[in-house]
This record gives sequence, structure tokens and C-alpha cells, in this order.
Amino acid sequence: MKLFVDSGNIKDIETLAAIGIVDGVTTNPSLLAKEPGEFKANLKRICDIVRGPVSGEVVSTDFAGMIREGHDIAAIDEHMIVKVPLTRDGIRACKAMSSDGIRVNVTLVFSAAQALLAAKAGATFVSPFVGRLDDVATNGMDLIREIVGIYDNYEFTTEVLVASCRHPIHVVEAARLGADIATCPPAVIDALFNHPLTNIGLEKFLKDWEKAHAATKA
Ligand code: G3P
Repeated sequence: MKLFVDSGNIKDIETLAAIGIVDGVTTNPSLLAKEPGEFKANLKRICDIVRGPVSGEVVSTDFAGMIREGHDIAAIDEHMIVKVPLTRDGIRACKAMSSDGIRVNVTLVFSAAQALLAAKAGATFVSPFVGRLDDVATNGMDLIREIVGIYDNYEFTTEVLVASCRHPIHVVEAARLGADIATCPPAVIDALFNHPLTNIGLEKFLKDWEKAHAATKA
């Protein structure tokens, strides 16, 4: 399963990319609005860091505006993916841009019916928000199971990008269900590394080694 960073913060992305486990980045207007600098320049820098798919979202809500912005965003770098919301104009724009060879990520997806429309419109990625479903007492991973099942039934090429991941279990469950990608804030990716037994085991190894070699050092 591919792992994307869900952030517009250059420093965090550089730190995680340096480890070698990042396959791409997703942003949205809220994440980019938090960062200093011009958003297109920031997206270009992010593309240069990860050399993988980077999603940038349109803020227009009408078809013509989405197409105009979509071409602008796609022109930033060969790695850019245009993000559009799951609305009627968003699906229409997805169909038009994907027909023009622009890769589209359909976002703000909360139902299998919406995900079906995104696949039929030729989306490269579909982004169901599991954390926001959990927030309203709906099991977000049930939606992932449904979407993966439907896409398998019809061999849709759209990749399932699990978004709004709030903790490592979302990532593990996404992988168990056969999702293609999980996108997570830096703190969630960091938490994937953690296990107390790893720390305890390493400490013991190093202590035993130190004890055995203390004599030779003396
Ligand atoms: O890109 C979607 C993601 O950023 C939403 O995450 O945590 O705001 O639900 P969250």
C-alpha cells in the first residue's frame, strides 16, 4: 500500500521523505492556508521533494472555474494531481479533465454511491474521509470495504486513497482491506514506527553488548 503525507508543511514533508517511505502528498485548501508563501510555489517545492503524486485542490465550485484552476494546477509540475470535490460540477470537471489526460483526485467522499460516480468519471484517485465518518459515529472503514469491493467487481482503475486518517489503526485497516493508498498527517505517520517492545528490546541488546565489551574497553 502506498503512503502519502497529508500536509502542506515543507519541513515535515522533507523530514518524512528523507526516511524513504513516502510515496506522495495530499493537500487541501485548509492545509495550504496554514503555510507561509505562495501556494503554487509551495506545491512545486513539494513535487521536487517527493517526486511522486501531489494533490492540489481547486477552490472554485463551478465547472468553468474548476477547469480553469485545474489546468493551472496541473501545469505546476508533472507530478501534480488536481483535486475536485464530489459535487455535480466536480464530477463533470473530473470527466472533462481526465479525458484531457489530467489526473484527478475526487475528494470529500463519504458514500459508496459517490465513489461509484468518481470511478465512472475516470478519477485517478478517490478520497473517502474515514476520520470524519468516525466523528459522526459511522465506521469509516466499512465504507472502504464497500468501495474496494465495488471497484473490484467492475475492475475500475480508480485507486482508493483513504483520507482523514487519524491513527495507525486506520492505516493498518486500510492495508488489510486492500486500499491502494493511505494519506496521513505527519504525526500519524510518526506513530506507525512506535512499539514499546521495540524500544525495550533494543535497550536490552545494547546494554548486553555494552556489558560484554566493557572489559575490552577498560
Ligand atoms: O485531505 C483530507 C484530510 O486532510 C482531512 O483530514 O483530519 O481534517 O478530517 P481531517
